[in-house]
Amino acid sequence: QGTMIINDLGHLEIGGCDTVELAKDYGTPLYVIDEELFRQNCRDYYQAFTETYGAEVIYASKTLSNLAICAIVNQEGLGLDVVSGGELFTAAKAKFPMDRVYFHGNNKSVEELKMALDYKVGRIMVDNLYELGLLNAIAAEAGQKAKIMLRLSPGVEAHTHEYIKTGQIDSKFGLTLENGMALSAVKRCLELDNIELKGFHCHIGSQIFELQSYAHAAEVMMSFVRSVHQEAGYLAQELNLGGGLGIYYFRDDQPRPVKEYADIMMVALKEKAREFGLPVPKVIVEPGRSISGPSGTTLYTIGAIKDIPGIRKYVSVDGGMGDNPRPALYQSRYEACLANRITEEDAETVSIAGKCCESGDMLIWDVELPEVQAGDILAVSSTGAYNYSMSMNYNRLPRPAMVLAANNKAELIIRREDYADLIRNDVLPERLDSSV
Ligand code: LLP
Repeated sequence: QGTMIINDLGHLEIGGCDTVELAKDYGTPLYVIDEELFRQNCRDYYQAFTETYGAEVIYASKTLSNLAICAIVNQEGLGLDVVSGGELFTAAKAKFPMDRVYFHGNNKSVEELKMALDYKVGRIMVDNLYELGLLNAIAAEAGQKAKIMLRLSPGVEAHTHEYIKTGQIDSKFGLTLENGMALSAVKRCLELDNIELKGFHCHIGSQIFELQSYAHAAEVMMSFVRSVHQEAGYLAQELNLGGGLGIYYFRDDQPRPVKEYADIMMVALKEKAREFGLPVPKVIVEPGRSISGPSGTTLYTIGAIKDIPGIRKYVSVDGGMGDNPRPALYQSRYEACLANRITEEDAETVSIAGKCCESGDMLIWDVELPEVQAGDILAVSSTGAYNYSMSMNYNRLPRPAMVLAANNKAELIIRREDYADLIRNDVLPERLDSSV
């Protein structure tokens, strides 16, 4: 998908860049972002939601955030969902318009809340009553009125093939709808001098294919809008209905078109609003994975190969759970190919091992590839979301570089860490310094 093709040399090409050359030029592991595809994914959302329904799309930067990505998201007219001071700082450094930034998190620190007010972010998504009180006090001190949305836990649990309404909501996020917690939070907001309540937010999950869950969430949220209107005389202007559209990683994954997602959700919302005789609130959605995920590919160099006859062939690469912890964390499955010999027939089933000292560091179990040799370049697809952003330095492995590939050109957007980076924050007390 995207600009991925097989070139005349039988190599995988992304954005017109031969990935074998990229591996040579930048080293491996290497994250390659297909800029056109990333932009197209932004545009699909912009068209389906903003142009069609006047809704606002904010990109969930937790999936992949850096200066270049923030700049692209801004160019494409999307807003930004940030969940920490670090993501907010990145957005600010990328000169992202702060009025289009939404600040999430279930335990924002005083410092982070001050920073959000200082930067004048568009909305602070308040998760709980403790935060509401804290923010009101901080805003009072700053002489501001904080524009907020309340995060609700709507009792809609999304699954791949079904949705269920949970009676008892067991989640660390948001204010529970059913037990009156959410309604009392609304009433509290209306009493507070330095809080301006704009509306409500919910997020039902991630990697979702079942679109009915979104329709259901929209209905539940609209019902809440009505009961708050009736019981507290407050009419919500905005509803943020979260992100979560699933993407293709492996075999059975069947992603739904963004347009279908938008239509199903918006139709359900409009119908409820009409039924209740209320105006349709402004809708906000905050997709992440479905924008950044498919646009990323990770390149690795194959090294040690260990064949245990009749049992398994382990093929080790120069990265692993440090740059992609998802298989180890969630048993996520990925597809891969040999970027330098992509036209060759699959000849064997092998398992791709990472290089961390940990048996669980297996990137892919049982993948079919041409006969693998040390030095081959392995390309793993759909690694744009929750890979770099969840990467770590376990075993003191430096984090890989990232390039943006477009129009036959690759540009470095994240430098590869070196060993000096790894000890940058280490402090050696003088009494332990053998050179003194
Ligand atoms: N909004 C909120 C409030 C969220 O919690 C999330 C994701 C999103 C938006 C974006 O959802 P997306 O469109 O990316 O599905 N690390 C896990 C996924 C965690 C999801 C966290 N929340 C993974 O690698 O699968």
